[in-house]
Amino acid sequence: MKAIVIYESMFGNTQEVARAIAEGLRLHLDVETVEVGSAPPAIGEGELLVIGGPTHTFSMSRESTREEAVTKAPEPVVSQGIGVREWLESLPASTGSPPAATFDTKVARPALPGSAAKAMQKRLRKKGFRILHPATNFLVEDTDGPLVEGQLDRARQLGDHLGSLIAAEG
Ligand SMILES: Cc1cc2nc3c(=O)[nH]c(=O)nc-3n(C[C@H](O)[C@H](O)[C@H](O)COP(=O)(O)O)c2cc1C
Repeated sequence: MKAIVIYESMFGNTQEVARAIAEGLRLHLDVETVEVGSAPPAIGEGELLVIGGPTHTFSMSRESTREEAVTKAPEPVVSQGIGVREWLESLPASTGSPPAATFDTKVARPALPGSAAKAMQKRLRKKGFRILHPATNFLVEDTDGPLVEGQLDRARQLGDHLGSLIAAEG
């Protein structure tokens, strides 16, 4: 089986997490890592989908929250087109229960309710995906980062874990 890691990111933190998850997955599987604007419209048969994005206003980003992020960014943002919300909206429903897992980034303080990863997980379940591992949050110190210490290790471990679950399924 192959894996595809799809990410949305404004300031680059979720992109870093996505790449670290891919490193962990690569211990077990072939992995492709793609920014959501370049992601394929559907997931291939026999592919593990891992998808993540930043938490904006308690959930997945919207065009308006992405525009707000642009005003706070010192450099051009990473995701300049659609976000994971729009990509998931147009993703076709699946019949074969393909495996998937979701992740997000959110601020460590204040600890706010809501999670883009949980919202993505709900959408994927509705589309017929089998959730391999519960939605995972990674923490940033401030809106534009950096990631809290230890998050990239956690991300690599998550990738390793997901890859080993798939490998064990044969
Ligand atoms: C418009 C906007 C709304 C946000 N809302 C939340 C929120 O509700 N909860 C939270 O924990 N973080 C929130 N954040 C912080 C983001 O989660 C943070 O910017 C993101 O994790 C950084 O990842 P990125 O570098 O990949 O964009 C918000 C950020 C922006 C720009």
